[in-house]
Amino acid sequence: MSYEDLFRLDGRRVVVVGAGSGIGREAAKALAAHGAEVVCADRDVDAATATGVGTAYALDVLDREAVRSAATDLGAVDVLVFTAATNVRKRLLDYADAEFDRVVDLNLRASFNLVRAFGGPMAERGRGSIVGFASIRAVTVEPGQGVYAATKAGLVQLLRTAAAELGPRGVRVNAIAPGVVETPLTRQIRSDPAWEAAYASKSALGRWAQPSELAGAVVYLASDAASFVTGSVLTVDGGWTAVDGRYDPPGL
Ligand SMILES: NC(=O)c1ccc[n+]([C@@H]2O[C@H](COP(=O)([O-])OP(=O)(O)OC[C@H]3O[C@@H](n4cnc5c(N)ncnc54)[C@H](O)[C@@H]3O)[C@@H](O)[C@H]2O)c1
Repeated sequence: MSYEDLFRLDGRRVVVVGAGSGIGREAAKALAAHGAEVVCADRDVDAATATGVGTAYALDVLDREAVRSAATDLGAVDVLVFTAATNVRKRLLDYADAEFDRVVDLNLRASFNLVRAFGGPMAERGRGSIVGFASIRAVTVEPGQGVYAATKAGLVQLLRTAAAELGPRGVRVNAIAPGVVETPLTRQIRSDPAWEAAYASKSALGRWAQPSELAGAVVYLASDAASFVTGSVLTVDGGWTAVDGRYDPPGL
């Protein structure tokens, strides 16, 4: 083993779904910087092009047939990373059926279809790495995040099961659970100063993350550095879930 190359991805074909914004964009750039041949897939193909690495590919993951064709059109894919997700922040009693469907369809159903469409050919070739995005909300909640939280907890179990089923065929499947990250997804929270400050002070590091701070976790799980890592949830939350946060005893 040449450790200088531990994280290198030369010759690997990587598809990043959600590469037009936030964490997906930074992940695509970092993967390309480590030598991967990156396909930047996104519903917003102009945004995917603006990411500025690899090839842009228009894909709406809510379209099951389009997901199936992408898995065929894009050839032998070594790594699939998917970030596309949405949140409707409302209390459970206020949720409309259509809002529930919107969050579940993108965060859970589309993820399920991506894992099946890309995982099958990976298993046939006997190798591959799949990286999905969960959240601290898979384990800890606040009022107004219930449906999003349920989809992220569901996604973790889906990915763990995929790890169990595809592991014997050479495919690793993992999740990354970010804390709070400055991206368009969290614009609503950052537009409220009290909410923004409360989120910053909750983590051990006392601040929000930049999307680039999630890129290392993606490169790691994509690469041979993680060759024995599967079925795991890699927490990148600045210590959010480690710290209870109810009280900071003075004088200690
Ligand atoms: N930002 C955070 O604080 C945070 C915290 C925890 C978890 N996460 C998770 O990390 C992941 C990335 O979040 P982000 O903040 O980078 O999001 P983002 O909103 O910045 O980016 C999401 C991307 O997905 C694309 N997309 C949306 N619907 C699509 C569809 N139907 N088909 C294809 N592409 C579609 C969008 O065009 C966009 O480019 C998500 O799964 C999110 O739940 C984010």
